[in-house]
Amino acid sequence: MPKKIRLGILGGGGDSLIGVLHRVASHINDNYQITGAVFNPDFKANKAFAREIDVPLNRIYKDFDTLVEEEMKLPEDERIQVCSILTPNFLHFPMAKKLLDNGFHVICEKPMTTSLAEAKILQKAHRKAGTVFALTHTYTGYPMVRQMREMIKKGELGKIHKVDARYYQGWINTIIHDKKKRSSVWRLDPKKAGISSCMGDIGVHAFNLVEYTTGLKVKSLLCDFNYLYKDNKMDVDGTVLIRMDAYVKGVIRSSQVATGEENGLAIAIYGEKGALRWEQEKPNFLYKMSDTEPTQIYKPGHAYNSKLSLDGTKLPAGHPEGIFDSMANIYLGAAKAIRGKRYNDGEFPTMEDGVRGMNFIEATVESHKAKNTWVKLMK
Ligand SMILES: NC(=O)c1ccc[n+]([C@@H]2O[C@H](COP(=O)([O-])OP(=O)(O)OC[C@H]3O[C@@H](n4cnc5c(N)ncnc54)[C@H](O)[C@@H]3O)[C@@H](O)[C@H]2O)c1
Repeated sequence: MPKKIRLGILGGGGDSLIGVLHRVASHINDNYQITGAVFNPDFKANKAFAREIDVPLNRIYKDFDTLVEEEMKLPEDERIQVCSILTPNFLHFPMAKKLLDNGFHVICEKPMTTSLAEAKILQKAHRKAGTVFALTHTYTGYPMVRQMREMIKKGELGKIHKVDARYYQGWINTIIHDKKKRSSVWRLDPKKAGISSCMGDIGVHAFNLVEYTTGLKVKSLLCDFNYLYKDNKMDVDGTVLIRMDAYVKGVIRSSQVATGEENGLAIAIYGEKGALRWEQEKPNFLYKMSDTEPTQIYKPGHAYNSKLSLDGTKLPAGHPEGIFDSMANIYLGAAKAIRGKRYNDGEFPTMEDGVRGMNFIEATVESHKAKNTWVKLMK
């Protein structure tokens, strides 16, 4: 039995949204052991949380710089191998850069950085380091999203001509209409979140799914944002027209003020021979549609699915797996890469996905500010 991979956690404390998803997901396939952490910038809260979840206190550090400094003093076979960065966005870049520069593997939350310029610097650092970098676009880990990618790759839809992705949430509705409240959340603070709230936080997931499932690249876009209030500097709603090719067009719709919506991520890809539709809130159903035949429903765990999809299912068909399993699949892919084992393309989002994501976010802001003009993305 190989030894567990020594995992460090940055952010993701008991007070966080995403910490529990990473902690559970990293343990699901028995590959990782949380060895050290800075869960929280407050040392007391950091240690209290470590005690609560039973992480040895001698590897709980007062801040990130101390973690790197102290871990580098340890022999390689004791040192943390990979760190998961689960902090607010503005800390992703400095943390990831320093980790790569010191030879660590990195698992990083999205958006990868707060600007495209930072993303490019990180890409260079990653090439130099030669370590593993996985970006946690969680939804690519779902078996039915992977199945969608493989069916499209095999040409089952024929030539793609229309894509429609939407990510609708409503939670900022309870905050945005109150002046005091809207200045108190980090997602609406450009210093902490970067240049975009809605597109940077959730629109980028939809963008990533569009490119992940179709294998095509968005070439240009036109975006219209809604900020709702004059003093609010961050988009809370946006609609993006996209062109992937001369005859492949579509839309990415994203909102944090879609009243009553919870985590409404959905994607539909239409081609000349058929279409596929998937919704995150019902992740175990993939609909294949046709103009001439009845709609078919694909489900996880059946032998008719692709290898990439089946590799992401742990139990026989009919045992529902969800978001924890989806994130666990990304951790599994990263574990294979860290152990130097073979893994399939598409098992975890990469540095290149992170750079494209930042290119997308910046382009949406540029397009909106230029009074809704078309903006080209990098090739
Ligand atoms: N992949 C997904 O689907 C998904 C979902 C939600 C959030 N996210 C991303 O995860 C990140 C965190 O989001 P969240 O909603 O959990 O935020 P949050 O505000 O709920 O939690 C942030 C955590 O980081 C800690 N922290 C802050 N500064 C720190 C520092 N200097 N050192 C160590 N820890 C520090 C906080 O104490 C807290 O525990 C964001 O980048 C967000 O975009 C991704």
